[in-house]
Amino acid sequence: MPVTCVVGLQWGDEAKGKIVDILTAKHDIVVRYQGGSNAGHTVVTGGQSYKLSLVPSGIFRPDVKCVVAGGVVLNPAALLEEIDGLTARQVAVGDNLIVSDRAHIIFPWHFEEDRLLDKRLSGGEAIGTTLRGIGPCYRDKVGRVFAVRLGDMYRADFRQRIEHITQAKNDILPGLCGGAERVRLDAAEIHRQYSDYAERLSPHVADTTVYLLDAVESEKNILFEGAQGALLDIDHGTFPFVTSSNSSGVGVSSGSGVPGRYVSKVIGILKAYTTRVGGGPFPTEQDNETGQHIRDRGNEYGTVTKRPRRCGWFDAVAARYTARLSGVDVICVMLLDVLGELPELKVCTAYELDGRRTTRFPSHVDDLRRVVPVYETLPGWQQEITDIRQMDDLPENAKKYIARISQLVGRPIEVASVGPDREQTIFA
Ligand code: GDP
Ligand code: IMO
Ligand code: MG
Repeated sequence: MPVTCVVGLQWGDEAKGKIVDILTAKHDIVVRYQGGSNAGHTVVTGGQSYKLSLVPSGIFRPDVKCVVAGGVVLNPAALLEEIDGLTARQVAVGDNLIVSDRAHIIFPWHFEEDRLLDKRLSGGEAIGTTLRGIGPCYRDKVGRVFAVRLGDMYRADFRQRIEHITQAKNDILPGLCGGAERVRLDAAEIHRQYSDYAERLSPHVADTTVYLLDAVESEKNILFEGAQGALLDIDHGTFPFVTSSNSSGVGVSSGSGVPGRYVSKVIGILKAYTTRVGGGPFPTEQDNETGQHIRDRGNEYGTVTKRPRRCGWFDAVAARYTARLSGVDVICVMLLDVLGELPELKVCTAYELDGRRTTRFPSHVDDLRRVVPVYETLPGWQQEITDIRQMDDLPENAKKYIARISQLVGRPIEVASVGPDREQTIFA
């Protein structure tokens, strides 16, 4: 399987980082192709826990090349901080990290825009972004006139460009909050800071599109690491409560430049239940003791923002939709151990909308808000499973639970995960 893609099938934080780290052993190159430092991927190995935001989760194996492709929006300060943090912990980051000169750069005005604009959508509910400037940077990318790519930072007119954009942003930003705040961005200071970042990043910068095309043509083993989850996809997710990139499998080719026809295997990552951070509908949410129990056992607090994650039952309607959308071949069911104390588990098998039963995931967020989940109840296993390493050794009820998930999602199971560590992984 030379080209594999790992993609989250829920609202993010499905434990993609753990699976990417494990699969990296069999790959030459690991690629992040969308999102930015809104992502927080956790890798636990040798008793150490690492949080990765922009650096691909392949970084722990020195022979693997880690690529940040052009579809990623790059906060250079965050990337440098991450590199420094890894280096301080003896994880080598040198020519094993390659960053696209096409990646769009996040600037201070993007943070301001994120903060000023996410207060409320017209319907009254905030998206609850990570405030990392992701949406505003993608907006400027599409809008073109205020966009700066990594490669632009090495050009003679970089200073002029910063001055021009800063002036425009200083005019625009107060309008976003009805003049309630004075925003004064300093072009000289921003230019100085970003020139420093550019200099420090320069050994890593390359044309990753051509690098990856060469790699697929020479049949290198490549692993694409999705960020966020398919339900947060800008085009196919629960719009407008989404992120600003194609976080389902469809983003691989636009974000990396590698044609989709080269991807030979897509691995869908699912939690054994569902979580969501931020606003937007969540039909199977348990805003009650059950949700709190899952949050406590699963330590469901945001990797990036530390916000408590909203928790609920497994939603097979949503997961089947996203497995199809991402062309998933196999699924990994993660955090199965978290459900180990509950006497009964519910799985949503259909929705009721306007009195009619459906297994179709609605395209409009207002309909998703109105659906009533139809649940099937399965018995829990009520035992710790974190030391189990073979499928056959799982309690019968745990086996039945994941088999039912697999049946409802319509994809075979490749992995069941019973703890955060690399070792706590059961292969089918
Ligand atoms: P990602 O964004 O998809 O990479 O996921 P996150 O790292 O944001 O969140 C997943 C969390 O679950 C991390 O804290 C992982 O260390 C942890 N984790 C991964 N797999 C398991 C598992 O099987 N059981 C438990 N209890 N925790 C897990
Ligand atoms: P990983 O890769 C979970 C959510 C935010 C918010 C919405 C938009 O760790 O799975 P943004 O800052 O992207 O404009 O926020 O998307 N969100 C995530 N939720 N995991 C993530 O990444 C997320 N990245 C963004 O909470 O609801
Ligand atoms: Mg995460």
